[in-house]
Amino acid sequence: MIHILFFIFALLFTSSTNAAVNDFCVANLNKADGPSGYPCITPTKVTADHFAFSGLGVAGNTTNIIKAAVTPSFVAQFPAVNGLGLSSARLDLAPGGVIPMHTHPAASEILFVVKGRIKAGFISSSANTVYVKTLKRGDVMVFPQGLLHFQINAGKYSALAVVSFNSPNPGLQILDFALFGNNLASTLVEQTTFLDDAQVKKLKGILGGTG
Ligand SMILES: *[C@@H]1O[C@H](CO)[C@@H](O)[C@H](O)[C@H]1NC(C)=O
Repeated sequence: MIHILFFIFALLFTSSTNAAVNDFCVANLNKADGPSGYPCITPTKVTADHFAFSGLGVAGNTTNIIKAAVTPSFVAQFPAVNGLGLSSARLDLAPGGVIPMHTHPAASEILFVVKGRIKAGFISSSANTVYVKTLKRGDVMVFPQGLLHFQINAGKYSALAVVSFNSPNPGLQILDFALFGNNLASTLVEQTTFLDDAQVKKLKGILGGTG
């Protein structure tokens, strides 16, 4: 009986000690990232400043080919989200701006329109079904994990959205850049997309691809 009580006491004591240690794990970005995130910096060196990030208060530079900017606060920019299963980003879309078709392999996304009008959509992987909505200020839309999706400024003025992810490191692959922004041989792009040579060369020229 005494033994059993001692065992229960030891169990309670151990689990409460672990809980205190695991309150947070601010990333040590100098170490390698792994499946469960980065190792932690020493908890006693963590201050309130680690848990706040001001980078999303500044509009991204939309003077570029997509007339849009994504400002991330993923674990690389905001190490306090390490291990917490979430992160966020800011989207700025100038008039005519577009976040081209892309996926986040590791996360679902929820988008909140702060300003302007945004047409957004995604494509299911099972049936290639298209889901498109035009969103106004205050609306949210969710994009399930791994699915191709896009956002377009649907208004006359600049649009602003905040997006949240259920991963500290959602990943980002933009389809257009994957196809036309690297050295994947034009013949392979043509064979795998059914586009003709002129179209592929033109898109490579616009998106910085070679070959
Ligand atoms: C925005 O980016 C463009 C193109 O790279 C650059 O010429 C311009 O100076 C940038 N503007 C600001 C405010 O940084």
